[in-house]
This record gives sequence, structure tokens and C-alpha cells, in this order.
Amino acid sequence: MKLSSANVNVLIKTCRKASKVLIRDFGEIENLQVSLKGPGDFVSASDKKVEKILIDELQKARPAYSILSEEVGLIKNDEEFKWIIDPIDGTANFLHGIPHFAISIGLEQNKEIICGIIYDPIKDELFIAEKGNGSYLNNQRMRVSSRSKLKDSIIFTGGPSFKSSDKDKESSLKEYNNFSSILLTPIRKLGSAALDMAYVAAGRCDGFWQRNLNYWDIAAGIILVKEAGGFVTDFKGNNEFIKNKNILVTNSKINDEMIEVLK
Ligand code: IPD
Ligand code: CA
Ligand code: CA
Repeated sequence: MKLSSANVNVLIKTCRKASKVLIRDFGEIENLQVSLKGPGDFVSASDKKVEKILIDELQKARPAYSILSEEVGLIKNDEEFKWIIDPIDGTANFLHGIPHFAISIGLEQNKEIICGIIYDPIKDELFIAEKGNGSYLNNQRMRVSSRSKLKDSIIFTGGPSFKSSDKDKESSLKEYNNFSSILLTPIRKLGSAALDMAYVAAGRCDGFWQRNLNYWDIAAGIILVKEAGGFVTDFKGNNEFIKNKNILVTNSKINDEMIEVLK
């Protein structure tokens, strides 16, 4: 089985097109690592190039929809539908030639995410979900893991970045230490919040928490996780995660234990 609604097809076609540029540019990065100038400007140009292809394709297919995208911000149009775009999630990995980054696009209808795609072009892994119709990885249905004890789990996190406030840095460190004292397996920081969420949906990891995430980092992940049977909340288990930017994602079974640690 696979998803095949009109919006799903638009998302897949759009991501596949933009990924060609992304894959080609990633191939250039290795050469740039050793150049004196470094790959910084090249990567931000790549980011913008990919974003432009995504926006052009989505506007062609759905001229009336609004768009919120990381680099260009809000393109206001229709009030009902909005695409939420992160052209490259995992830019630091991309910059360093680490093959772990993704294009992430969610579709909002009346402020609720109804459809989302996270595409890892290097591994050719396409994670997609639609409200009521399930979550898929390359046409295979995804389910969250069934692990029910935090201590046996693999947990992802990200940040803090140098831009985080001192208070956030302190809180992140405290949370990291608290989880570390419980888990038998160390915490992973893979560098792409979108893929972190896709991996919870795929049952590859059991939980993920992070402070200070933006809506474009998580929009597509929200529907992927929910449709795979997982929970997306803030650190208190409430629905305020877009507003307060603190995201807790779990397979549902370890949710209460994670909330307890984050207290
Ligand atoms: C970043 C990644 C990273 C997370 C950062 C995000 P970007 O997004 O998702 O994993 O730790 O908070 O800003 O900058 O690569 O799009
Ligand atoms: Ca991002
Ligand atoms: Ca980005």
C-alpha cells in the first residue's frame, strides 16, 4: 500500500526535483572542505537554490496556498492552507560533508498539519504521512517502536546552539545529564531534528526531546509521528509545543517517563 492523494503526489514530485540539486551540490562539498574559502557560502547558496525550487513547484501546483519557509519567511495567500518548508534540515551536517540531512515540508489546513514529507536524498529514504491514512517509509507502513521502558530506549536530542540563551544551555545540559543517568545506551545527537522525528515514526528510536525548535523543523515530523502511533507534545505533555518551542516526541509508551525526567 502507499499514499496517493493529490497533495501527496505534489509533495513527492517537488522533493524529488529539488533533491537533484541537493545531491549534486553535496558532491561538491568534499572538494570545498579543503579549499581556503571553505564551503560556507556555497552551502547557503545551495539552501536558497533548493528553497526556490520547492517554492516554485508548490506555487505551480497550488497557486492559492500560503507558504512559510525558513529562508524567505511568510508568503501570505489563502488563509486555509499553508506549506511549511525547511529546505535543508541538518545544514551543519551538509556543510561538513556528513550524509545526514533532509528536505522537510508539512501542509497545514486551518492550523493543523494534515500531510508531511521528510526526504533524505542521500539514503533515498522518503518518509511521508497523511492525516487518517498512515505513515510510510518508501511505501512501507511505519509504526513507532513498542519499547516501554525508558532505560532500554534509544533517545535523540539536539542543540543547544551557540545562539541559545545561557538559561537554555543550562537546562539542556541538565536534561542531558538526567537522561544519561537512566539510559543503558547513550543519547544520540544526529543533527537533523526532522530526521530525528522521522526515525521515531519509523521505530528506529524511541524518543526525542529538544528546546528551541522552529515550526519548519518539526511541521512534517508532527504528522509522521502521530500517524505512526506516537505522541508529539511539549515537555509537560501539553499541546503548546509550537508556541513554547520545546518538543517531546515519543513512541507513546515512554511518554510519562520522559515527562518525569524533563520536570
Ligand atoms: C537544525 C537541525 C538541528 C537542530 C537545530 C536546527 P537547520 O536545523 O534540525 O538538528 O538541533 O536546532 O536549527 O539549521 O539544519 O535547518
Ligand atoms: Ca531546520
Ligand atoms: Ca534549514
